[in-house]
Amino acid sequence: MDANVAQSPSLPRIGEPAPHFEAETTHGTLRLSDFEGSWLILFSHPADFTPVCTTEFIAFAEIAPELSKRNVQLLGLSIDSTYSHIAWVRTIKEKFGVDIPFPIIADLNKEVATAYGMLMPGESKTETSRAVFVIDDKGVVRAMIYYPLTTGRNMDEILRLVDALQTSDEHGVATPAGWRPGDKVIVPPPRTVEDAEARMAAGYECQDWFFCKRAL
Ligand code: BEZ
Repeated sequence: MDANVAQSPSLPRIGEPAPHFEAETTHGTLRLSDFEGSWLILFSHPADFTPVCTTEFIAFAEIAPELSKRNVQLLGLSIDSTYSHIAWVRTIKEKFGVDIPFPIIADLNKEVATAYGMLMPGESKTETSRAVFVIDDKGVVRAMIYYPLTTGRNMDEILRLVDALQTSDEHGVATPAGWRPGDKVIVPPPRTVEDAEARMAAGYECQDWFFCKRAL
């Protein structure tokens, strides 16, 4: 590799440990390790005092109790100061009557945004994109979602994603397109000829040897 060629930082990958951080937030200094034992949704927004981000913050606050039931904490981030975050949170309370219960990282030096690949210079060099990292209770990245500046995220999908990941962990299954809690789940495809044979006799709902569902 040519030493003069700038290398991209290594970005988070599903199934690998989430990058460590220590950051100033609206709830004091926080590290990734502070969240060990609970799941974490680390998400970035482009900027404080912008309309789409305001709708998203209100929506994140609305699902925070549901996430909490699932042992999931929220942590926001943008390249704004703590003072800006505090002022924005106060404005959201004053104008919309909504308390923002989760901390927000003030990533002025872009350290966390860079480590997590939240910056998309093709879209903006100064604002983070709408990234979501689902990190499990062992600090492993389990899912990543990226949305552009102009599109607000869907909280139902974020909750659905958490439910799907936790269901897969608990039951050793996969979840089909559009799956919702209560729906049938996918029995993971067999790895051997013997497994393929065995599953046809296991009482699952099978269309074929590779496609079996079951109720939980
Ligand atoms: C917004 O949150 O409204 C927004 C932020 C950056 C670009 C476009 C919209």
